[in-house]
Amino acid sequence: MSASKPDLQKTLDDVKNLIDTAKPLLEKVTTLEENETLRVQFLGRKSKLTDILRTLKEFSDEDRVIIGSEANKIKTQLSEMVENNSVRLLKIKHNRISDKEKIDVTLPVYEPQIGHIHPVTQMQWKTEDIFQKMGFDIVYPYEIDDDYHNFTAVNLPEGHPARDNWDTFWTEDGQIAITHTSSMQNRILKEFKPPIRVIVPGRCFRHEATDARHEHTFTQVEGVYVDKNVTLNNMLATLKTFFSEFYEKEVEVKFTPDFFPFVEPGGMMSLTCILCDGKGCNVCKNTGWLEILGCGMIHPNVLKMGGIDSDVYSGFAWGFGLERLVMLKYNIEDIRHFYSGKFDFLKQF
Ligand code: DAH
Repeated sequence: MSASKPDLQKTLDDVKNLIDTAKPLLEKVTTLEENETLRVQFLGRKSKLTDILRTLKEFSDEDRVIIGSEANKIKTQLSEMVENNSVRLLKIKHNRISDKEKIDVTLPVYEPQIGHIHPVTQMQWKTEDIFQKMGFDIVYPYEIDDDYHNFTAVNLPEGHPARDNWDTFWTEDGQIAITHTSSMQNRILKEFKPPIRVIVPGRCFRHEATDARHEHTFTQVEGVYVDKNVTLNNMLATLKTFFSEFYEKEVEVKFTPDFFPFVEPGGMMSLTCILCDGKGCNVCKNTGWLEILGCGMIHPNVLKMGGIDSDVYSGFAWGFGLERLVMLKYNIEDIRHFYSGKFDFLKQF
């Protein structure tokens, strides 16, 4: 081995030592001057790295490739560190702020998200407004109530088979998470004197499987109207007025007989499909009508339990699900969106 032949391994070690020494120093740089001194020391014309690159010609072709690529890699790394340092330090110098407090003015502006009222609440307020203008008072229900008010007092005594229509959540001590806001009828009849006009908007709960049309928690608006000579026609006129206001367009209503223990006659009220204006679409199954609520003339038993003389007074009552109304207003296909907590859904209202 000739003494003058350069040593590949030693040169590679020198290159590695170079980066090991330079890196920690460059990471700690706090001034532009320091950065420049290190640049000259490690990358300048008189630097160790330049010395190494100068000896390249003494190596064999193969070794030259190995050392050349190692040395260039390190040159690039060190140059990048020096460059980054100088950009960072220049920014600090010109902003006249300390490194820790520096503000990155290129970041996007932070815009706080401002919340808004839930669509169902918005529509509950609209509903309350419309009925108030028509002379109705508003009563809110107890969310947990007793068997008597939820069932017995609306003509559903214990053991009545129709109780099964309301899948009920019971508390351990026999109370009920109200299945409908009809739970307030008895108190209203007792506490208000005819003429009675009251609506009861509130949350109801059903122990049932959920799907696009059913939720375990939903909002119902019960209506109670009692006076002398009240007829089914008064009810249809009241509800037609309400729905025309709610949907901000003229709607027609119709009554189809059905059974609810608390009313006689009882039925379903439909209105002209507000999506197709009664022409027929897939939401109204091409009938032009939407069955929207249960209603009827208050059963004499219910009036009696409320202390009202059914020979002198008559009245009507209804109950509708507010979510369903809102779904039709905005063409929402799944009731479960409302309480899913999905921001993207709620942001639209
Ligand atoms: N309470 C009924 C329900 O939850 C809705 C209802 C139907 C209320 C007919 C009424 C009525 O007042 O007359 O399904």
